[in-house]
Amino acid sequence: MDCKKFARRQIETIRKTVRDARAISALSGGVDSSVCTVLAHRAIGDQLRVIFIDDGLMRQDEPQWVKKQFAKLGIKVSIIRAAGTFFKALKGKTDPEDKRKAFRHTFYKVFGKAVRASKAQFLIQGTIAADILETKKGVKTQHNVLDQIGISAKKGYGFHVIEPLKTLYKPAVRKVGRTLGMPEVLHARMPFPGPGLATRCLGECTPRRIGIVRRACKIVEEETTRFKKFQAFGVLLADRATGVTKDGRRRFGDLIAIRCVNSENAVTATATRLPWATLMKIQKRIYKEIPSATKVLYDLSPKPPSTIEYI
Ligand code: XMP
Repeated sequence: MDCKKFARRQIETIRKTVRDARAISALSGGVDSSVCTVLAHRAIGDQLRVIFIDDGLMRQDEPQWVKKQFAKLGIKVSIIRAAGTFFKALKGKTDPEDKRKAFRHTFYKVFGKAVRASKAQFLIQGTIAADILETKKGVKTQHNVLDQIGISAKKGYGFHVIEPLKTLYKPAVRKVGRTLGMPEVLHARMPFPGPGLATRCLGECTPRRIGIVRRACKIVEEETTRFKKFQAFGVLLADRATGVTKDGRRRFGDLIAIRCVNSENAVTATATRLPWATLMKIQKRIYKEIPSATKVLYDLSPKPPSTIEYI
């Protein structure tokens, strides 16, 4: 693929579509929305408003980090704090699909409000080919493939959606990012799902439980930086498991899974052969930094039959 040509064509299309109206981009800091935001900014400059919805389901220090990275590119990012709204919507929900639905509807509610306030008529969205394929196949309902899950963005939320990357898979999206001159920390970033840490939290997503997932993800990411992999993260399972205290008493605590996979485009994946010493270091840190943990597991599942995330 000729990335320069692709980028040029998309920039032109965005410019022609938006004309002198306003557009808004919901930046998550992931590769897809980051590349989309840069394309849109090149196309329409200040007519683009970039928002980052802090849904409370982000990794450690993510909102500030993203804002800083984009400031370096000359793109202003406004952070919308909405953690409370998301946790309220997720309260009491344990079914994976119910959680995805609650996330999706809250996202579009919060986002719709921001769009109306900005008077934007267009939404720039980082949907990629894998999202569409998996939604079509019914593997999962991606929060960013609106029309495929029967939601009309125009009718339901009042804006038109522009999806410049919908024909590309992840490796091509990264290449476009590189062509656009984005720094490696952005275009070579691990994918991070739209519903955030909720996809790594089985059972109810409370602030306390998401806090555990956040710490687990931080540990796994930090300890696997030097290995070639597609994604690496920690997961909180829904059950409780027996542990034992230093003075020999039984206690029930959290089960944490380590997930690290190799993949080309997220459609298939295999577990990464992490060195034993690395796994041991991760489990040691998890017990130290997450005192409620009583079991640490390494997930060996390939996709299929598994998926990469947990919901
Ligand atoms: P699964 O878990 O289906 O994930 O094997 C495949 C890839 O997609 C990411 N993922 C998502 N990305 N919205 C997104 O933008 C979503 O709802 C979503 N769910 C999963 C996941 O991290 C992996 O890279």
